[in-house]
Amino acid sequence: MDAPRAQADPAFRADVLAGLAAPIPAIPARWLYDRRGSELFEKITELPEYYPTRTERALLERHCADVARIAGKGDAVIEFGSGSSTKTPILLRAVAPAAYVPIDISGDFLRDAAAALQADFPGLPIHPVEGDFTKPIALPDAVAGLSKLGFFPGSTIGNLVPRTAVDLLRAMKATLGSGAYLLIGMDRLKDVDVLARAYDDAAGVTAEFNLNLLHRINAELNGTIPAEAFRHRAIWNDKASRIEMHLEALRDVEFTIEGQPFAFKAGETIHTENSHKYGLRDSRLLLRAAGWGVTEEWTDEADQFALILAVAEPPRFAP
Ligand code: SAH
Ligand code: AVI
Repeated sequence: MDAPRAQADPAFRADVLAGLAAPIPAIPARWLYDRRGSELFEKITELPEYYPTRTERALLERHCADVARIAGKGDAVIEFGSGSSTKTPILLRAVAPAAYVPIDISGDFLRDAAAALQADFPGLPIHPVEGDFTKPIALPDAVAGLSKLGFFPGSTIGNLVPRTAVDLLRAMKATLGSGAYLLIGMDRLKDVDVLARAYDDAAGVTAEFNLNLLHRINAELNGTIPAEAFRHRAIWNDKASRIEMHLEALRDVEFTIEGQPFAFKAGETIHTENSHKYGLRDSRLLLRAAGWGVTEEWTDEADQFALILAVAEPPRFAP
């Protein structure tokens, strides 16, 4: 049963109604993260098949001292898509920041994570910001005069198509200011079977994470989607270099959302997420396209995941 909830985000409503009516039905991946979605993502990070989180954590353990040496200590750390902030303490211990600003769209989850972190770092000013980082975000006044270190872990950048990713990286440069550093995690291109298992795990947690979107729509937008008539699919798109998550109709289905009718034929899908995988030079190019110069690149021995430190480059005349 999907319990009705009070207030739906108007942006969620607009994206769902427009996305399901589009010629290729798709809903932006940021809406996967209501409280339940955030909890399910946390479970994903602990799955044996999901290598990114443990690989990135090991890279942070190994290299955050280098980050502090290069970027300096005492900056304000601004984290984009902070989620549970479980990897963040590794960075905070190394750079001893003057303040920490976690930004996330999943508001309740963000506030709980910030409270838990505050207990571990009692002297650190923490200013959580609930919002969509693809839209202009105003940082708290408290960090206005401080130099900034951006932190964008988890390869969340891979959830944006390259054009939007460059827009976001450019906006981050404007937000963080000239001379700022950005520590960003990017998942590497790799064996397709490894990727397929990471995004369609044996325990079915990723499937539940994907299908939770339908329950969220039913609960928040008065929907009648029969969730059991859809199944999770993880599909490798080689031309776009990404794993795609889809919800595929198992039979012909009809439903309404806020009274508006929708119909899907058996086999038709709703595209719910992209997870782009970047080679060494792809990630450099993406950052450079947005005005970030690569300072350091660290990877694990199997080159599964990259942790990159980039610096906001001043504009210059190009020949
Ligand atoms: N940084 C954490 C969580 C990654 S999951 C980690 O590395 O494990 C992606 C996070 O980004 C989620 O917490 C989700 O709520 C948040 N998120 C996704 N799209 C967002 C957007 N457009 N604006 C703000 N937060 C977003
Ligand atoms: C948050 N993001 C980088 C995850 C990813 O790997 O693309 C979300 C996720 N989707 C399915 N599994 C994990």
